[in-house]
Formats: sequence, C-alpha cells, structure tokens
Amino acid sequence: ITVAVLYGGRSSEHSVSCVSAGAVMAHLDRAVYEVVPVGITGSGTWTLGPDDVSGLRIIDRVLPEVDPGRPRVALGLSADDRGVLRFTDGERAGEEVARVDVVFPVMHGTHAEDGTVQGLLELSGVPYVGPGVFASAAGMDKEFTKVVLGAAGLPIGEQVVLRPGSGTVPESELDRLGLPLFVKPARGGSSIGITKVSRIGELEAAIAEARRFDPKVIVEAAIVGREVECGVLQYPDGRVEASLPAELHIPGEPTGLDGETEGDSFYDFDTKYLDDVCTFDLPARLPAAETDRLRALAVEAFHALDARGLSRVDFFVTDHGPVINEVNTMPGFTPISMYPQMWAASGVDYRTLLDTLVRTALA
Ligand code: DAL
Ligand code: MG
Repeated sequence: ITVAVLYGGRSSEHSVSCVSAGAVMAHLDRAVYEVVPVGITGSGTWTLGPDDVSGLRIIDRVLPEVDPGRPRVALGLSADDRGVLRFTDGERAGEEVARVDVVFPVMHGTHAEDGTVQGLLELSGVPYVGPGVFASAAGMDKEFTKVVLGAAGLPIGEQVVLRPGSGTVPESELDRLGLPLFVKPARGGSSIGITKVSRIGELEAAIAEARRFDPKVIVEAAIVGREVECGVLQYPDGRVEASLPAELHIPGEPTGLDGETEGDSFYDFDTKYLDDVCTFDLPARLPAAETDRLRALAVEAFHALDARGLSRVDFFVTDHGPVINEVNTMPGFTPISMYPQMWAASGVDYRTLLDTLVRTALA
C-alpha cells in the first residue's frame, strides 16, 4: 500500500506539521506501507520530500521547514482510478513519481487542516486519512466549532467574535466575559497568535497580534479548570472509540484547583514544543465516572462535527463539569504530542494507530 504523507503547507503550523510528519513516517510499518513524502512549501508548492526524512524534527530549538529546492510534484488521478504523483517541471516533467493508494495529510492549521486540502483530495478522488471538508472547516474555526457543539447540546465556553474590520469588544461583553481573557485567531493552532489578557489595557495589542494570523478573532472568557485531552479513533468498521484522557500540567499556570487566577503563563507555543517543561498524567487522575463522561463527550463531539478517522478533543474540567475547549481534527503527531501517547496508554501503539487510520481511510 503506497501512502503519500503530506506535510508543511501555507500555515502558521508549517513546522509543527513537519515534525508530526517526521514522526508518522518513522512509525508507519514499512513491511506494509511504501511511504512517499510530499512536502508543501510555505508558499504552497508541492515537492517530493527527501529520501531521508529524519531531519523533520526540532534540533537545538530550530524548527524544520519544507525545502523549496526539491523537485515539484502534483497529485492527479490515473486512468485506472489510482492516485498518481507526477513531476511537474524540470527534465523529468510529466514522469510518474508514484502510484498512490491513500494520502495522509499530516497537516495542521489553515490551508491544511481546514478543509482546503481535503477539498483538493476529494476532487482528485484519492482516499485520505481524517475528516472531510465540513468537519475540517468547522473544527478549524473556533467560532463554528462552538456553534456546532453548542447546537448539539455539548458544553462550551463563552466567546465574542470580532469579525474582519470590526473594532474591539463592546463594554457590555467585557463585563460578561470578565478577566482574564484569551484572544485567539479564529482559525489557528499550536497556540500561535494567542494572548492571555489579564489587564484590560492589554486587550488592543492582543487583538492586533491575533489579527496578524486571521482577520477574524475570538475573545474567550478564561476557564478556570484542569486541562484534560482525549483522543478519538475510528476503526475501519465505523466504530468510534475514545482513548484514556491525559491531564497537562503547565509550569507557572494556575492549577484551577484552588481558585487562583493570577499568572500569565499558559500552554503556549514555546511551552508546548521548545521548552520541554510540561508534564502530564496519563491517565488523568479523575474519578472513573468523570473519565467515562469525558470519553463519551469526546465521541459525541466527534460525531457532532461529522468527523472521520480521528480527533483530539481538549477539555477544561471545572468545578461545574467539563467544558470543551476545542476539537483538533488532525492533532499533532510530534514526539511530545498527546494523541499518539494517549492511544499508546490505551493499548494502541503508534504503529497500530497509524495502521488503523490508514485502513479506516481505505474502508
Ligand atoms: N494544532 C496542534 C498540532 C495540535 O492540536 O496538536
Ligand atoms: Mg489545541
């Protein structure tokens, strides 16, 4: 079975995708799968990845990127209805790179995890891992994730949407949300462009920062609670299961257990990927009934979004019950990412996890 692994792309999470893809390619069972790396550059050019993809990792805090100097390729459909990757320029233009059975878009963020790549793959008629256009788009957009989950009766937090060109948050809304606030690009990931606002004077700068990544900005009330995540996996027969949940501990972050709300640190990009300072409990130390409830909610959120294949559902566990913070339809697969680790702790090792994802895509 030939798997084209797509990574990089025109996304603020370009490098995170490279690291995720590096880990995925290292774990795909080579006895079963032939792997064709396809790197999409920061400007959107499709290239044939290098034979040695071991450089797709963070080395001395330097993030990997797709090399724009590699041969260009394009995906199409062959006469016998298989995917075909071809060189598009240079001496080898038109020559076939590979026949492709399935595409694994290990891509995060805009132009990647938001339905755009999925739409292209639908058009080309090649099976692919993960959800389709709608779930990808709705899961990427924090406004519409809440619209969909809220309509399904699932617990979500308060938000104010600042549309492109609109000003700041109205006074009445500020009173309702309280402090601190989280200001986020509506469509983003890996905490890029997110600011925690503890003093109202910091709000304008936070909105401007988020707008660097998306003209639409979300302002959310900070939720005091424990950060707990849960993986969702779909099997080839359609069955959907949730992993054991994990609880993240971010140094300097208020625990939410003692009502404390001071402190500006949160699970930001550096904390996530560069500093290597987060710890976690896996499984999360929760009463069995609470764990069961989170797992059930994670599967409900997956279905509410009409997802397919996989998701990671991120919660805050508060004194008043769990709140869904977001749904990641192509969660990180990096060595520190929780999704593969939660499945490993649930009895599905990395190789089996990837095998299940690919087989579900082909089912
Ligand atoms: N958006 C990042 C990759 C995650 O959710 O893991
Ligand atoms: Mg997240």
